[in-house]
Amino acid sequence: MKKELGAVILAAGEGKRLKLNKPKPLAPCLDQCLVDFPIQELSKFFTQINLKADEAQITAVVGHRKEEVIHYLSAKYQKLTFATQEQQLGTGDALRAYFNSQENAKNFQYTFILCADTPVVRSSVLYKMYQHAQAEKLDGVAASFRENQPAGYGRILRNPSDASFKIVEEKDASASEKAITEVNSGMYLVKTQFLIEQLKKINAQNNSNEFYLTDIFQWGEKVQALLFNEAQYFLGVNTLKQLEHAENALNQVLIDEHRENGVRFIQSATVRIDSQVEIGAGTVIYPQVSLRGRTKIGENCTIDQGAIIKSSELSAQVKVHAYSVLEEARVLSQAEVGPFARLRPQTHLKEKVKIGNFVEIKKSVLDAGVKVSHLSYVGDAFIGEETNIGCGFITCNYDGAQKHVTKIGKHCFIGSDSQTVAPVEIGDDCFVASSSTITKNMPSGSFAISRSPQITKENLAHRFIKKKKD
Ligand code: UD1
Ligand code: CA
Repeated sequence: MKKELGAVILAAGEGKRLKLNKPKPLAPCLDQCLVDFPIQELSKFFTQINLKADEAQITAVVGHRKEEVIHYLSAKYQKLTFATQEQQLGTGDALRAYFNSQENAKNFQYTFILCADTPVVRSSVLYKMYQHAQAEKLDGVAASFRENQPAGYGRILRNPSDASFKIVEEKDASASEKAITEVNSGMYLVKTQFLIEQLKKINAQNNSNEFYLTDIFQWGEKVQALLFNEAQYFLGVNTLKQLEHAENALNQVLIDEHRENGVRFIQSATVRIDSQVEIGAGTVIYPQVSLRGRTKIGENCTIDQGAIIKSSELSAQVKVHAYSVLEEARVLSQAEVGPFARLRPQTHLKEKVKIGNFVEIKKSVLDAGVKVSHLSYVGDAFIGEETNIGCGFITCNYDGAQKHVTKIGKHCFIGSDSQTVAPVEIGDDCFVASSSTITKNMPSGSFAISRSPQITKENLAHRFIKKKKD
């Protein structure tokens, strides 16, 4: 049997009900856009069934604000092709536009059809549909699910005497049909020849005056509605409320997948994880953690309560303590950050670095074993291995116009409440006495102190201590 698949993503609609000033396919969903998810799951499915590049093709049908949609998608998916639907006359018409503009579309044995607005779809669902269609030698499969509040979805009307069915859209449904809770997901796998034949038959004589793709099933004999129990995979997004609902569902699905891979969650209902995040086995994620963008977390890490980690890379056994915020940072194994620490872009912490509470690091490299334990700012700096930075240290890196670099060697001791005024360089094995302001370079092995000498006068305190009058 030929293993050739054409796939269509319906993305031409306007999405008026979403009320966002964006074409609907580009509505935000976690860290990506609605349309990204069906495309990525289709690609995963193609890989799962070992399809070669020339045995499958994904085409997006675009229309409303198509320039923006094409601009976004073509930059991200080099092999994606596009078909234009000039007027949005319905999902059936969108399929016609696809066949009219894609020469080779009719040659694929099967055609997968997905909507741009069902972002929780998983490749496992597509796989099941494909297996079922093949095993039962079907002309078409429509994935269905149960929804207790089915308003807006097409209802599945099953024929009591055989497997055939038809789909009635909300606008055309009678009161008793509206009560049906088995609904159409908008995901279909159809034999291409059957699809082309059925598309010739559909018309727009319905209450929406649209060409409904769903009508193709009503004349089929070898078609089935395949009911899935996992309703969350099929949630459609037409309104902002549904967007939030689908986004939360996708978040929970992703968490379940991480858990399957050995990640332990404590109160996962409060955790937010973007779709491109990777987490190693043995890692523990505490409540209210937010992992965003292309964050990669290694094995056996601990991410404590309320941490926000954006587009950062953590090696194994890193501990991020409570309420720390990391952005575009790299943290190597066994390092510790926080609580209440902030790592800004281009921070690179090497092995076993310790960053404590109320410390901010920006665009700096801290070599292995460096400690910055309390209340400090380190920006545009290089700090050598095993150097200890005391409490309340500041790299004064900005002169009001430009940023300057601070270099501190290895095995140094920088006393508390000190500052370095950049550009400045401190060699290896240096000692900076506490409360010093370092403005000149220090050679390796040197000691520097820059505080005014202490004067102590006995029995003089009473002159300065003021007492409140009663
Ligand atoms: C559609 C189904 C409905 C199903 C629901 C699942 C039809 C007629 N109805 O309804 O049975 O329960 O999805 O979520 O198919 N689009 C185009 N061109 C058009 C019209 C739509 O490309 O001319 C695209 C949209 O951008 C969208 C998808 O097709 O991605 C579905 O269209 P939408 O208007 O959202 O259909 P629903 O009313 O949700
Ligand atoms: Ca929809």
